[in-house]
Amino acid sequence: MTLLDRSPAPTPGDPMDPMLPRRFRISHTRQDTRDTWTLELEPVDGLPIGYAAGQFTMLDAFGVGEVPISISGDPTRPGPLEHTIRDVGVVTHALITAPTGAVLGVRGPFGTSWDVADGEGGDVVFVAGGIGLAPLRPALLEVVARRDRYNRVVLLYGARTPEDILFGDELRTWAKDHGVVVEVTVDNGQHAWRGRVGFVTQLVPRAGFDPRNTLALVCGPETMMGYVASGLVDRGVPENRVRLSMERNMKCGVGLCGHCQLRELFVCVDGPVHAYDQLVPLLASREL
Ligand SMILES: Cc1cc2nc3c(=O)[nH]c(=O)nc-3n(C[C@H](O)[C@H](O)[C@H](O)COP(=O)(O)OP(=O)(O)OC[C@H]3O[C@@H](n4cnc5c(N)ncnc54)[C@H](O)[C@@H]3O)c2cc1C
Ligand code: FES
Repeated sequence: MTLLDRSPAPTPGDPMDPMLPRRFRISHTRQDTRDTWTLELEPVDGLPIGYAAGQFTMLDAFGVGEVPISISGDPTRPGPLEHTIRDVGVVTHALITAPTGAVLGVRGPFGTSWDVADGEGGDVVFVAGGIGLAPLRPALLEVVARRDRYNRVVLLYGARTPEDILFGDELRTWAKDHGVVVEVTVDNGQHAWRGRVGFVTQLVPRAGFDPRNTLALVCGPETMMGYVASGLVDRGVPENRVRLSMERNMKCGVGLCGHCQLRELFVCVDGPVHAYDQLVPLLASREL
């Protein structure tokens, strides 16, 4: 699925009705940081889900509620369906505390992808803030799996504190074994932290890449994405080569209910990954 592909409308009674959750069993839960866990899910019916980097599912903790969560696994390999979840409220808490073997509902995958192949032959710059690294991880794994197709690959990542850095071992592997330039900064570092302190936005003007031949993928809090995107454009990256993953409240996930509407866009089907040129007028106005 590419940018702006729309999901097909559901047909009533269709066994593939996107409103019907499929049953997945939790095979493993890994604590990544103090408030973030990764769930590995296996389909109860044995039929795996295919997905593209950047897509999300609606995860249902039965009896508690359903929330949109990006898929954080490796789209280039078969394996469990992975989601990395920050414990912020009722449903996310129910998901991360569900025991191994518990059954969850999964609808999807939904939405547009990072379409990282669009960056082949050029540089790719990933910019992540906080939990935003999780939705970018599938795209990073895709680039790393086909590393020879890309020139310079840069990851700029900002976390709140050193303890909040996600996927630390992988960051080191991507840098050491795959030639990814990884720059990490934290908002607050204690004495033991010898790395950078400051916002990820400050890394953009200094990062080495060829702006005219770059695909930039950005995920994090909306304000951070706005600053990063305009910083990338100031460096000379064309607006349509900067992609942002937007978050909005979602209910149906398939363009029916309007909960995720961002003026003329439905984030669940027109996004979550949008090209920046589409978003410029929307990000400029408040209260959307
Ligand atoms: C397309 C998409 C992909 C997402 N991917 C991920 C992911 O990979 N990992 C992940 O942890 N979360 C992700 N989210 C956010 C996740 O859906 C919310 O954190 C979740 O819905 C909160 O539900 P809750 O019942 O646990 O919390 P609630 O009780 O609904 O909210 C608790 C607190 O979290 C805040 N909150 C709720 N939703 C969001 C949000 N979307 N962004 C920021 N703060 C929010 C609320 O304002 C409130 O303060 C994604 C959201 C979207 C739309
Ligand atoms: S979540 Fe229902 S229209 Fe997008």
